[in-house]
Amino acid sequence: MQLMKSSYTELTAPGRGYVTDLLKPDETLDMLETYGFAVTRSPSATVSAEDAHREMAAIRADLGLGDPYVPLLYRDRDAPIVTEVTRKADSDHPVFHTGAAQGWHTDGLLEAIGTIKTTLLYCVRPARGGGRTFLLNAGRVFDELRAEDSEAAGILLRDTILGRRSTIPGVDREAVGPVFAELGDGHYATRYGQGQVEHWYPKDAAEQKVLDRALAYFTARRDDPDVRIDLLLRAGQCLIFRNDVLAHGREHFTDDSRHPRLLLRSLHTDAPKRTA
Ligand SMILES: [Fe+2]
Repeated sequence: MQLMKSSYTELTAPGRGYVTDLLKPDETLDMLETYGFAVTRSPSATVSAEDAHREMAAIRADLGLGDPYVPLLYRDRDAPIVTEVTRKADSDHPVFHTGAAQGWHTDGLLEAIGTIKTTLLYCVRPARGGGRTFLLNAGRVFDELRAEDSEAAGILLRDTILGRRSTIPGVDREAVGPVFAELGDGHYATRYGQGQVEHWYPKDAAEQKVLDRALAYFTARRDDPDVRIDLLLRAGQCLIFRNDVLAHGREHFTDDSRHPRLLLRSLHTDAPKRTA
């Protein structure tokens, strides 16, 4: 079954071919099965936040996604199930509500590997400048590392190697687990990241060297367009991607303060599937 694959055969989708019609969910599913992501386009030229919520509900229904999942980090914080990603002066969140770049990561800081399988990012209003979303076929890079340096790959499979720690002030929580886990058929789930939240736990200096080798491999590979794609979402476009197999990040952006960038995000524990 294609959807369980983490090592997608292709990632890049040149040109505009990756934008699919919201009203043709089969096209969207074909894209997701091949690339691990798809972008839908609203039938309307302009969209409001209300339109976006309605279209996200339609996408969830078309792709067999259940209700949005509230991550452990946001339980008890009165978090909405569909989050606004926009600049907010009064927010304590270190990433959602700033225009700063966001390093490579997977969503679900405290969740076990593979828990959050799908992320939806709906663009209501793009930034004035910047704000591209980056996707990395992490499973494929890991597969290549395993072929070239099995010792370095092995350390990323260990379930005590990577802690991810909250950077929200006053929230002192960390979850430890592997960077990759085998799903079967040679494919992998991932919680790869190299940003502000990662804490690495090699056992000794020798292991530190092996780990450094593994992470350097990712650093060297992740700008290669064979395994990475950069997307600038336009108003009315929704990016759907497999959060359990692709890592992602964001370019910094600048806003028009009267019309700030607004994306809506929802997370799902289901993988997209055909509902018809
Ligand atoms: Fe994210």
